Amino acid sequence: MQSLRVSLRKEVDASYDIVVDSGLLGRTAGELARGRFGKRLVLVCDETTRALFGETLLADLRAADVQADLLSVPAGEQSKCLAVFERLCGDLRDLRISRKDCLVAVGGGMVGDLTGFVAGCYMRGLPFVQVPTTLLSQVDSSVGGKVAVNLPGAKNYIGLFHQPKKVLVDVDTLASLPPRELDSGLAEVLKYAVIADAEFFSYLEDKRDALRSLEREAVIRTVATCCAIKASIVERDEREAGPRMVLNYGHTLGHAVEDAMHYALTHGECVAYGMRAAARLANAMNLFPAADYHRHEQLLDRYGLAVAPLDLDPDELLRIASGDKKNSGGRITFILPTSLGQTTRRDDVPQDLVRSVLADTLRRA
Ligand SMILES: NC(=O)c1ccc[n+]([C@@H]2O[C@H](COP(=O)([O-])OP(=O)(O)OC[C@H]3O[C@@H](n4cnc5c(N)ncnc54)[C@H](O)[C@@H]3O)[C@@H](O)[C@H]2O)c1
Repeated sequence: MQSLRVSLRKEVDASYDIVVDSGLLGRTAGELARGRFGKRLVLVCDETTRALFGETLLADLRAADVQADLLSVPAGEQSKCLAVFERLCGDLRDLRISRKDCLVAVGGGMVGDLTGFVAGCYMRGLPFVQVPTTLLSQVDSSVGGKVAVNLPGAKNYIGLFHQPKKVLVDVDTLASLPPRELDSGLAEVLKYAVIADAEFFSYLEDKRDALRSLEREAVIRTVATCCAIKASIVERDEREAGPRMVLNYGHTLGHAVEDAMHYALTHGECVAYGMRAAARLANAMNLFPAADYHRHEQLLDRYGLAVAPLDLDPDELLRIASGDKKNSGGRITFILPTSLGQTTRRDDVPQDLVRSVLADTLRRA
């Protein structure tokens, strides 16, 4: 017998900057040119972000003598799939894109996840930059390097960890966002405050109107705070071995609601139901003090999140939640708040309690 060892210990510096500003899109071509992320750039958009931002950015890049192209996919979650992934890879091949080139995701979380996944796989990986244009993608999906496509009925099942080279957030892009998409992002914003930052929670209690009306200073501070929280969690646990799971607060039951509603609600709308239910579980288990629990309830009410009753069967949600890829051995893992800014991970929540809290939350949230 012969035995050999392949020694591959390596340290890779995958650090990157996140820039949050107003008016940044007008400077993005310059940022991309200066960044030397690739010899050629390929912008990837959906049809909506192509018309809103992609075409202008392409023209700016070409005017700055950067070799650039643009690819677009239909808007909507259904584009985050293997068929569209394959089509994009074929388009890159036709454009003779190589590993020396760079992709630029211009759009919401769907475009970011899809583009990042293509970037991670095409020719075994090329760099990519995130230019997120929905609140949800600005505060969440553009940071952290989780990229994926969906299988039918199995969200994000085919994916990678592939960090972007840079994240360029122009909060002005939110001006065209439909109100429901803004609310979807706000739900994730509230999540960060509950899991990590009591002071930020108080700030959000005061700033609902400012955020809803996209007051520049409030939005920049909010997006930057969320990115900083996410970055500090990802720095400690890039591959979700433990601490990163805290970001799933509200997602255990939120994903089940999303699935049971066949994606008729936005991601954030579903997460808000999941957060409300998780806080109620924590309170019922005497983990979450009453004063904090009431502020949590009131904050969701104030933002109009998870307030409408939903005609769903708690048992169906339980069944979906116990099949989630983040659980082990059929047990449902919950992130539960213990105070504003602190959480605990529990996989021993009694099913009867989950059922009754769910029934209550769905009846009148
Ligand atoms: N990778 C991660 O860590 C992570 C985290 C959270 C969510 N996600 C993923 O993100 C996706 C959801 O992201 P999303 O909510 O941004 O959805 P999305 O990308 O589908 O965008 C929602 C809608 O808004 C439109 N849009 C985008 N920017 C716009 C703008 N500025 N003005 C007007 N319309 C605009 C889009 O065309 C789309 O119709 C899901 O696929 C989810 O799985 C990923």
